[in-house]
Amino acid sequence: MQCTRRTAAHHILTKQSAASALKSLNGSITSSAASRPTFTLLQHQQTEPRRQFSLKPQRRFEASKNVLIKEFFPLKESEHIKKTPPAWHHPIYSEDQMNEVGPSHRETRNWSDRVALFMVRLLRGGLDLASGYKHDKAVKLNKQDPGAAQQKFAMTERKYLIRNIFLESVAGVPGMVAGMLRHLHSMRRMRRDNGWMETLLEESFNERMHLLTFLKMAEPGWFMRIMVLGAQGVFFNAFFFSYLISPRTCHRFVGYLEEEAVLTYTREIEDIDAGKLPMWENMQAPDIAVQYWNMPEGHRTMRDLLLYVRADESKHREVNHTLGNLDQKNDPNPYVSVYKDAKDGPHPTKDLSHQRPMGWERDEVI
Ligand SMILES: [Fe+2]
Ligand SMILES: [Fe+2]
Repeated sequence: MQCTRRTAAHHILTKQSAASALKSLNGSITSSAASRPTFTLLQHQQTEPRRQFSLKPQRRFEASKNVLIKEFFPLKESEHIKKTPPAWHHPIYSEDQMNEVGPSHRETRNWSDRVALFMVRLLRGGLDLASGYKHDKAVKLNKQDPGAAQQKFAMTERKYLIRNIFLESVAGVPGMVAGMLRHLHSMRRMRRDNGWMETLLEESFNERMHLLTFLKMAEPGWFMRIMVLGAQGVFFNAFFFSYLISPRTCHRFVGYLEEEAVLTYTREIEDIDAGKLPMWENMQAPDIAVQYWNMPEGHRTMRDLLLYVRADESKHREVNHTLGNLDQKNDPNPYVSVYKDAKDGPHPTKDLSHQRPMGWERDEVI
């Protein structure tokens, strides 16, 4: 059952020129209602009890006048189907485990690692530009003049959402490409896959759930859709050919990309704690997220949601750094393997029980 919720839209979409859309995306326009075509922000309010849910999913926007807008991606209502549960159930994370997660960096050890890190830094620069995220400059100015830094570089809920949506729309690509290529390789070469595909496809599924969750909070306009389309078109093909050439470098690349994702979500959580994102303080996670992560009652705020998403990113960081340490053709996937010494020492798991931010070394797991 899908709910009807009162949601407050800050601005209603209007026709804009490409130039003003770009300015808006970069956060250079601050408050004009007519100048924000890229996203419509939605704030989930808690004023209406859940028993008022309706079978007809709709989102109610409030601005100068009340307008009912169709749910962005509603559940398909069917005469016979009650629900369509996901094949991959999310592992349970405890709050302590999620609080343990934090930024980390695996030092480069060879040329493959250096290429991977360079590519991530290049992409990160582009994403910073697109989402108006200037953390390093902000920190520098903050030391000299905190007020000016806040005014010039402060990240708002809207800017973070743009960043998250763009990041997640790209993040769902590598697992699917790698899984697909290993599937084709296994058939073409008549060899075993050794259990890698499942983890890779599950990763892309998980990233898509992140994207869908953030999309419940902000509806992208045409400019953002074009950006996402372009990024996907370019990134899918680039990753496809790169994975054919050096899968090890590609896994390391994803490991470094996930280091950045953990960093971004950590900053968002810290900004909520510091009172810099007031709209998110009492905001409830969308139903799609509550169901997917099995978020317990009383732990369903935006902050809780970011803890789950960050924990997922830390898992991708660990998995891909580990896969980057292995023999790509012959080693089994340590995350779906049963160990001879199962009772001794820790082994890689799908949940957060043994966290290794820099990945497991090959001689520890094979
Ligand atoms: Fe993600
Ligand atoms: Fe990720």
